[in-house]
Amino acid sequence: MYIAICLAIALVKLCNGLENGLARTPPMGWLSWERFRCNTDCVNDPDNCISEQLFQTMADLLITEGYASAGYEFINIDDCWLDRRRAPDGKLVPDGKRFPNGIRALSDYIHSRGLKFGIYEDFGNYTCAGYPGIIGYEKLDAQLFADWNVDYVKLDGCYALPQDMDRGYTEFGKLLNNTGKPMVYSCSWPVYQIYAGIQPNFSAIKTHCNLWRNYDDIQDSWMSVESIIDYYGNNQDIIAPNAGPGHWNDPDMLIIGNFGLSYEQAKTQFAIWAILAAPLLMSVDLRTIRPEFKAILQNRKVISVDQDPLGVQGRRIYKHKGIEIWSKPLSPIYHHFYSYAIAFINRRTDGTPSDVAVTLKELGLASLNGYRVEDLYENVDYGILYPNTKIKVKVNPSGVVMLRAEVQFSFL
Ligand SMILES: *[C@@H]1O[C@H](CO)[C@@H](O)[C@H](O)[C@H]1NC(C)=O
Ligand SMILES: *[C@@H]1O[C@H](CO)[C@@H](O)[C@H](O)[C@H]1NC(C)=O
Ligand SMILES: *[C@@H]1O[C@H](CO)[C@@H](O)[C@H](O)[C@H]1NC(C)=O
Repeated sequence: MYIAICLAIALVKLCNGLENGLARTPPMGWLSWERFRCNTDCVNDPDNCISEQLFQTMADLLITEGYASAGYEFINIDDCWLDRRRAPDGKLVPDGKRFPNGIRALSDYIHSRGLKFGIYEDFGNYTCAGYPGIIGYEKLDAQLFADWNVDYVKLDGCYALPQDMDRGYTEFGKLLNNTGKPMVYSCSWPVYQIYAGIQPNFSAIKTHCNLWRNYDDIQDSWMSVESIIDYYGNNQDIIAPNAGPGHWNDPDMLIIGNFGLSYEQAKTQFAIWAILAAPLLMSVDLRTIRPEFKAILQNRKVISVDQDPLGVQGRRIYKHKGIEIWSKPLSPIYHHFYSYAIAFINRRTDGTPSDVAVTLKELGLASLNGYRVEDLYENVDYGILYPNTKIKVKVNPSGVVMLRAEVQFSFL
């Protein structure tokens, strides 16, 4: 319903978000934080510390290991790249030992590989790890990012007052815009306000940010992934309508290929992030990732669900006794019938796959022309199914079955 209304009145700008021409589909790339944290010890751990070498290596692997051709394009720095102090002229400077060639050189390297470059700062007095924040230097910093040819800015919200964020995030967004250099703007504005008991003004947030965090930082565990899935499901009526081309909810990084998720759980994270039209920012060591996890991250069918041009965030449509069904409207549309991605997830732990049987009509798929249905992980083609067809799937514990149902056109 919302979708139809929004499409109809898009021309009068009531449903529009940030229109800087960027992030028309959810951003895809690699971000250092979840896997590499604030490791600054390049003396004892040179291969894993936050340094220009780490980002160059990941940029190389994004290309040579096939991630770039699957759509991943950003190499993004998170916290801990800075020196503890600004330069005498007030400019931000990176840590000289870990970024000896400076940020512009790293940015040039990443661009020379055909990729895009993202950086991290904080709206407050300090970054979360205690490095200089932007307060008092907003204009200088926005210009410096433009001079460094930055394509993406993540602005965190530590050491700041959440009640100042409506003003502060808006102003910094305008300063980025004023530089003339297009930069994707990632905000932590709503999550800090929610923690402080302030109801975020999403109509303002989506007008000024390309993406924003709503909830806790992801950690390397299934429990953390589950808590995020629950948050987005339980709060979907408030959260989901704010997403669309140019403006996305960000449930945080993909932890697929790290230590905490099984193969089934990794497929589930990827499926739900795609249903949520989430940014796909991998935080994993691309040097050592196992092939089965790499295959999940490069699953083009699931990626195309995430990147669908309609940009509609999906929803949890069923939840009972540990079984959930999530659904995302997709293109193509025939008359008023959408195509859909459907994810069946099994939150049960009783050791045996659970059977789920449901008709297409019960999933909201009502076109009498039928739907071509295929499994996105198993390469099973179900052929053309109709609204009264009952589909049966077996869902592994903490696993997922993900389908795409493409509405059929009538040529009569
Ligand atoms: C930031 O620093 C200024 C100047 O020292 C101080 O007045 C302000 O209270 C600080 N803000 C926060 C949120 O700590
Ligand atoms: C700045 O904002 C205007 C108006 O929304 C937009 O048309 C333009 O593309 C933006 N430019 C940059 C560099 O973000
Ligand atoms: C939310 O922000 C918009 C500007 O984008 C403003 O017009 C509106 O009054 C704000 N709503 C509240 C409740 O503050």
